[in-house]
Amino acid sequence: MSLSILFALLFAVSPVVVSQHASVPSSTVASTSQTSSGASSFTTSVELSVEDLWDLYVGPVSTFSINTTVEPTPIPSSSLVPPPALYYPPFPKGQQVPLQPKNESWKFPKGFWYGVAGAAYQIEGAVKAEGRGPSIWDVLTHRVVNYVSTNDTGDIADNNYYQYKEDIARIAALGLKTYSFSLSWSRILPFGSGSINEQALLHYDDVIDTCLQYGIIPQVTLFHWDLPLFLQNTYNGWLSDKIISDFTDYARIVFNRWHSKVHYWFTVNEPIVFCGFYPLPANYFKNTTIPPKQQPYVCGHNVLLSHASAYHLAKSINSSLSVSFKTNGGFKIPRTDSQADAEAVQRAWDFNEGWFANPTFINGDYPTHLKDYVSGFLPAFTDKQKAQINGTCDIFAHDAYTSDFIMAPDAGIDACIANTTNPLYPGCYNTTKVYANGYWTIGAAGDPGTPWLNQATDWVPSFLHYMQDTWKPRGGIAITEFGISEPYEELRTNLASILIDPIRSNYYKSYLEAILIAIGEGVNVVGTLAWSIYDNLEWSQGYSVKFGIQYVNLTTQERYFKASAFEYANMFNVYLEK
Ligand SMILES: *[C@@H]1O[C@H](CO)[C@@H](O)[C@H](O)[C@H]1NC(C)=O
Ligand SMILES: *[C@@H]1O[C@H](CO)[C@@H](O)[C@H](O)[C@H]1NC(C)=O
Ligand SMILES: *[C@@H]1O[C@H](CO)[C@@H](O)[C@H](O)[C@H]1NC(C)=O
Ligand SMILES: *[C@@H]1O[C@H](CO)[C@@H](O)[C@H](O)[C@H]1NC(C)=O
Ligand SMILES: *[C@@H]1O[C@H](CO)[C@@H](O)[C@H](O)[C@H]1NC(C)=O
Ligand SMILES: *[C@@H]1O[C@H](CO)[C@@H](O)[C@H](O)[C@H]1NC(C)=O
Ligand SMILES: *[C@@H]1O[C@H](CO)[C@@H](O)[C@H](O)[C@H]1NC(C)=O
Ligand SMILES: *[C@@H]1O[C@H](CO)[C@@H](O)[C@H](O)[C@H]1NC(C)=O
Ligand SMILES: *[C@@H]1O[C@H](CO)[C@@H](O)[C@H](O)[C@H]1NC(C)=O
Repeated sequence: MSLSILFALLFAVSPVVVSQHASVPSSTVASTSQTSSGASSFTTSVELSVEDLWDLYVGPVSTFSINTTVEPTPIPSSSLVPPPALYYPPFPKGQQVPLQPKNESWKFPKGFWYGVAGAAYQIEGAVKAEGRGPSIWDVLTHRVVNYVSTNDTGDIADNNYYQYKEDIARIAALGLKTYSFSLSWSRILPFGSGSINEQALLHYDDVIDTCLQYGIIPQVTLFHWDLPLFLQNTYNGWLSDKIISDFTDYARIVFNRWHSKVHYWFTVNEPIVFCGFYPLPANYFKNTTIPPKQQPYVCGHNVLLSHASAYHLAKSINSSLSVSFKTNGGFKIPRTDSQADAEAVQRAWDFNEGWFANPTFINGDYPTHLKDYVSGFLPAFTDKQKAQINGTCDIFAHDAYTSDFIMAPDAGIDACIANTTNPLYPGCYNTTKVYANGYWTIGAAGDPGTPWLNQATDWVPSFLHYMQDTWKPRGGIAITEFGISEPYEELRTNLASILIDPIRSNYYKSYLEAILIAIGEGVNVVGTLAWSIYDNLEWSQGYSVKFGIQYVNLTTQERYFKASAFEYANMFNVYLEK
């Protein structure tokens, strides 16, 4: 990125004019340091530079010693020798290649894509470099006390902003074919809309070109939770329909720039989760009068309209693009065969996958149980909006880590629906990882920092059938994130004990076998992305929970393959149709 030094001062010298009340909630200023200008001095309008946004809302950030784009560190050939086999008897003398007996009735079809995923705020670091504006996550990590259990930030993360060439080279060295990453919206548009930061575009130009140079298919997500702070402070971000035009304008910039190089696009990542972040913590962002329990659904409404708008825009720019959003969730298994648990399962689908997938895959509208709730406060989609939303995912891109048993609330479903203070309202279904016998969990537990995650790979074939039968995606199903937090991995301090990760290795092997079974039974699965390319900032768990198929020493930013990386890649060596 050195050639773009020329642009470095662009935003420092061209502040934008914003209205005061929309951009600087007085409560936020009061909770930051009272520096040059306190809130009381703003009466009509104020000019804010990107630097001002950082100073007012985030404060100083950490940097790493590698702070320009570097050529890849050579990959030691010793690190590319597969690990000793974990569990394949018999053990031939000296054999170091996993000796899985091949099941001749399984195959991944030609054209199946397989790789790894990461996301901007979790891996890039360099948060203030080259004109990036702050996102809400810079505030959540820096300012909101205990929002992140470890007080970690994404300031440096995996330093991917400077070390991406090495990161892509390492993916290629494993024999993987796909790299899925997200763009930082506030790098490209430091205020979320308005002035474009050309340095950010040059950066992502090179990330994409480096993928192509190594024969890696780049897949790009526009929004992976790092909302430009300015949009949150101006109009409450996803809680306002103003986001639709801003997201569309952002999408126009990136589709125009990269449509000829990037075929696979994801508009937003896991709206169930990021809409669930609302209400954001009080006193750090612009206030809203929308009741807390309604906020996620207001967000979801604007997400659907933003996604649909971006989808049609992409198709108008290049009709051959594959455009979808990534949703998330696991298979929902009735805990017992009671009628109440069956109904709870349907409610769970409606309030999760169905929330976003029914409008886009089925009929442009919300599923029944969700609609019963949101019709009390959301405007119904007009026929025009329904037509605009329906059909706007080319594939069913699902982040599917685990599964849950579902049951009715203790008070019963009807009593819950009638009682807005029931903790399970408005979904009014309950979940558990424990079988009805009350003893075994659904599968091996992940790290205690991720209580939502147990291995549940034996449910994957049923889940894939359910997705295909329910949403009938025309371009098939992709598992766009899956993985497990190796239990207590963060407590291991010695490299050798970190690098062999048997729970994760087994997870990838059995998950991919489950997919092979489903493919054999006629489910159209088109690709998989392991989460994650390497250990990274696990949001509110900081760096204490590890999902990587590579370890990153955060002191040195050296990367190391874990055993699971070989387990994952080997499944494609064995089963990909030649
Ligand atoms: C924002 O709302 C909180 C309560 O959630 C209140 O304490 C605070 O005074 C409000 N701030 C402003 C600027 O209205
Ligand atoms: C980059 O890092 C070097 C040390 O490696 C340091 O001297 C320099 O000030 C840093 N530059 C910036 C812009 O942070
Ligand atoms: C995080 O910071 C808060 C506030 O400074 C402090 O109370 C808490 O103990 C810190 N947590 C950890 C894990 O360091
Ligand atoms: C449209 O996108 C595809 C990649 O999906 C690319 O191969 C093609 O060149 C693009 N078309 C134009 C006109 O740029
Ligand atoms: C929605 O689109 C699907 C195909 O994508 C189509 O089968 C269905 O009839 C459409 N539904 C409505 C209500 O238009
Ligand atoms: C949900 O299920 C758990 C048992 O897993 C139970 O302890 C809890 O009370 C239930 N919650 C409600 C609100 O029904
Ligand atoms: C509503 O739910 C709350 C919380 O579970 C409970 O304390 C209260 O008794 C319930 N009210 C009624 C009328 O059931
Ligand atoms: C990470 O790097 C530091 C600095 O070289 C070293 O002291 C530490 O042992 C390394 N950690 C591991 C797990 O290798
Ligand atoms: C091989 O695959 C078939 C089809 O999925 C399955 O029925 C069979 O159990 C598998 N065999 C072994 C040994 O796993």
